Amino acid sequence: MANPFKPTAGAVPPLLVGRDALLAEVDEGIRAGAGHPARITIFTGARGTGKTVMLTEAGDRAMAHGWLVIDESASPGMLARIGEAVDRLLDGVNPRARRRITGMSIGGVGSVETELTPRLAEGVRHRIGRLLDTLEKDGTGLLVTVDEVHARSDDLRELALITQHLVREDREFAIVMAGLPSAVSDLLRSDAQGRVLTFLRRADKHVLADVEVDEVHDALVQTVTDNGRTIDEDAARAAAEATHGYPFLIQLVGFHVWRAAAGDRITRADVAAGVDAARERLGTLVTETALADLSPRDLDVLRAMAADDGPSRMVDLAARTGMARQNADTYRRRLLDAGVIVQAGRGQVDFALPYLREHLRARM
Ligand SMILES: Nc1ncnc2c1ncn2[C@@H]1O[C@H](COP(=O)(O)OP(=O)(O)OP(=O)(O)O)[C@@H](O)[C@H]1O
Ligand SMILES: [Mg+2]
Repeated sequence: MANPFKPTAGAVPPLLVGRDALLAEVDEGIRAGAGHPARITIFTGARGTGKTVMLTEAGDRAMAHGWLVIDESASPGMLARIGEAVDRLLDGVNPRARRRITGMSIGGVGSVETELTPRLAEGVRHRIGRLLDTLEKDGTGLLVTVDEVHARSDDLRELALITQHLVREDREFAIVMAGLPSAVSDLLRSDAQGRVLTFLRRADKHVLADVEVDEVHDALVQTVTDNGRTIDEDAARAAAEATHGYPFLIQLVGFHVWRAAAGDRITRADVAAGVDAARERLGTLVTETALADLSPRDLDVLRAMAADDGPSRMVDLAARTGMARQNADTYRRRLLDAGVIVQAGRGQVDFALPYLREHLRARM
């Protein structure tokens, strides 16, 4: 029996837990027509909360309505790649065929990429307009998804401008973006001309939070039974609780529990073994990646937090790290933006990633 769980970045899970309402909004935006706020949507959230998966799902919804989808990432050359993708769609556009262009590569630094960005953008805007002329006749449109948004992307700024024009012209165009919370706040801070600001202010912003443990339980049971095994009730409950509702852990725990079981029936002992394996993998896959993004001072604050068993008070953290209160607040903001901590009531913070406390303690 093949393992149905997908503990891989960007992999669509067997069951997407707790995101129906958000996807219904994106779907409504596609159907509702030009001007619907969900036509510019941005998902933020800590690592492993399912941002990339939401882009894939949004694309699937759009395609179900006959729309074309271009999946991109805000890396250098994005605008040129979007232009290339639009050209290919223009060449062979068959509105009945639901085509998806993914991971387009134009092969190194081509002539388009050496063009000045604003000029390139002008061209891309016109090409999108031409594509939309064709699509709109058939009652469909174009969705562009952009993963890994960040502040240093000039291409993203240009795409924001293109989007504003298309929105003003009532075109059948939508854009769904995803990025870490810090990327989005950097974007706002770095926005000298205010272009991206207007664009993002207009965007529907959704923070992908952890999902309900009860829903995780139901999804685990269903995935197991759909794939020809059973799971004891106490085992299912324990496995669901071990995920803390953190999307990546749903797949990681599911995968390792499935793997630990020898027969058709998954027991509490299998769950215990599987959860241990999952936690170990979480440390190398997510926790260490998240910590690698941080400065030594950020880490000092996190270590100071690990001394508490629950939420930490900012006054205590300032005292433990020897920082002035105002200084500690700056680090609080940075860590909130990075998605590693959450606000836990007035003057208190807590870890955002499950097992981060244990991970830090084990290394102190
Ligand atoms: N709602 C969900 N229910 C169940 N599993 C999910 C859900 N969302 C995401 N996952 C799983 O979690 C993992 C991480 O998802 P994804 O790569 O989309 O996260 P991300 O937010 O893009 O992370 P990163 O910031 O590292 O890019 C994948 O294994 C995916 O299958
Ligand atoms: Mg991602």
